[in-house]
Amino acid sequence: MTPARRAAGREITTLEGLPAESRRRWSEALVATGGSQCGFCTPGIVMRLAALEGDGQAPPAPAAKVDQALLAHLCRCTGWQTIGEAARSVLDGTPPRSPALTRRDLDRASTRAGIEGGVPQRVDPAVVLGDAGFADDGAPAGALVAVPDGRGGYAVAETVAEARALAGKVQGRSTSLPLRHPLDVPAGDWDLTLSTTWVEPGYLEPDASWCLPGQAPASPLGNGGAFGGKADSPVAEDARRLADEHGRPVRVLWSREDVVRMGAKRPPVAGGVDRSGAGRLRVGVPPEGVDEGRWAALAAAVATVAPDLDLEPVPLSGPPLGFSLRGAVWAEAAVLAAGARALGSLGPGAHRDVGMEVVGPSGGRAVARCLPDDSFELVVAAGEALDEVVLRSYCIGAAHQALGWVRSEGIAVDADGATQDLTVRSFGILPARAMPRIGVTFESGTAFEPGAARPAVNGSDAVFCAVAAARWLADGLVERWPTDRAGAARPGRP
Ligand code: FES
Repeated sequence: MTPARRAAGREITTLEGLPAESRRRWSEALVATGGSQCGFCTPGIVMRLAALEGDGQAPPAPAAKVDQALLAHLCRCTGWQTIGEAARSVLDGTPPRSPALTRRDLDRASTRAGIEGGVPQRVDPAVVLGDAGFADDGAPAGALVAVPDGRGGYAVAETVAEARALAGKVQGRSTSLPLRHPLDVPAGDWDLTLSTTWVEPGYLEPDASWCLPGQAPASPLGNGGAFGGKADSPVAEDARRLADEHGRPVRVLWSREDVVRMGAKRPPVAGGVDRSGAGRLRVGVPPEGVDEGRWAALAAAVATVAPDLDLEPVPLSGPPLGFSLRGAVWAEAAVLAAGARALGSLGPGAHRDVGMEVVGPSGGRAVARCLPDDSFELVVAAGEALDEVVLRSYCIGAAHQALGWVRSEGIAVDADGATQDLTVRSFGILPARAMPRIGVTFESGTAFEPGAARPAVNGSDAVFCAVAAARWLADGLVERWPTDRAGAARPGRP
C-alpha cells in the first residue's frame, strides 16, 4: 500500500518487531472475538491498532478512533465488528464476550471455520500473527519467479523485480467508467425485478502457487476458501507446467491488478418474479457456454430456494465468471424468492423490518431483520455451533459482504469486456465506519432438523442471502444493484 520511496530514511517496525507481550495481547484478543479469519489482513491491522495503545507517556487512543484508524485497511472476511470488539477489549479493557482462550477448543473452532469457509482452515493466535501458511510462504529459496506478462503468458526471471520488469507494470487504477448491467430483465409482467453487474470477490491473498519439477503444485488456498474465487484459478497448473518446462522450482505470483484483470467475477444476472415466486432469471455465462454438470448443479441449488424460477444462460463477453463464488446464482434466486414472499404477504407497501428467511442448500437457516436504525438482527440455525465465536464471526462477515453486494459493490467492465477498476479501493467494499451493528443469535438444529443438535452445517451462506434480501427490502426493492454506490463510505443512511 505504501510505495517504498515514501519510507526512505525511516525506521520501519513490522509485526515481528512488536514486543512479545503486545503480540500476545493482540493475537489473543482477535482470536477471542473472532476478529481474524483468513488472517491475511490481520498483521497490518495489529500494527495499526498497536499504534493506538500509547507508549506509557501518551494515553491509549479512545476506541472511537478505531474505525478511523482502519480506513487504510481492508478486511474482506470478518465484517469489521469483531475487530472493533478486539480493539475495545485491549484499548478500553472491555472484556471480550467469549470464553477465555484456554476454555475454547480451537480444533472445534477450526472445524466450524472450515465449514463456513469451504476449505480446511485454522483458528489460532499464530494466524493473527501472519503464520497461517499462505500460498507463497512455503516456496523454496532460489525458485524462478513467473508473473503474468499481459499477453496471456508469463515473464519468468530469477527475482520478482526482474520478472516484473520483464512483464511491464500494470497500473492500478479506479476508473470513472460507470458500472454496466449487461443483461436485460426478461420480458414479462413481473411484480419484482433485479439486475446486477460484475462483482469482484475481493479476497485479499492474491493468487499464488509454486511447484518443483515433476511434483504437485502448492494450493493457492492459504487459510481460507477465497469465497470460491480461486476454485478455477489457473496458477497451480501454471506453476506445474513452468517448473517442468524450466526444470527448476517456479513460483507463480499474481499481483492485485493481475487478480482483478484475470480472476473470476460474480456473474451478472437479470430476473423477474411474480408474487408467487414464479419467474425467470437470466444468468451471464462465458461465450463458450458453461459445463453441463456445473449448470445442472446450479439449477439443483436454485430449485431448493426458488422452485418456480426458470434459469436462462446468456453468453456474455467480459472477465471470467465464477460459478463457485459464494452462492452465485442461487443466492440471487433466494433473494428474489424472499422479496416475492415479502411482497406476497404484505402488499405493495412492504414493511422495512420484516424478517427475511433463507434456507441454504445444506440446511443452514437464517432470518435477517433490518431495524429502523439500519442495524441488523440475525437468527441463525447452523446445527451444532462447535464454536460460537467463529460462527458469529462468519455470520457478521457474510452480512458485511451482503450489504456491500446490495449497496456498493461492482466492478467496471468496458465495452470490450476488460475490467477497468484495478484497485482494492475501487471494488466498493464497505469500510469499517460504514458497517452497521449486526446482532446474532443462534438456534440449535437446522432447517432440516429443527431442534436437533447435529449436524453442523454452513450458516453464513444463508446469512449472506437473508441480509441481502433484508437490505434490499428496506431500500425499497429497487431493481438495480448496487443501489447506492456513492454511499459506500457513508454510515448506513436513515
Ligand atoms: S481475515 Fe481479514 S481479509 Fe481475511
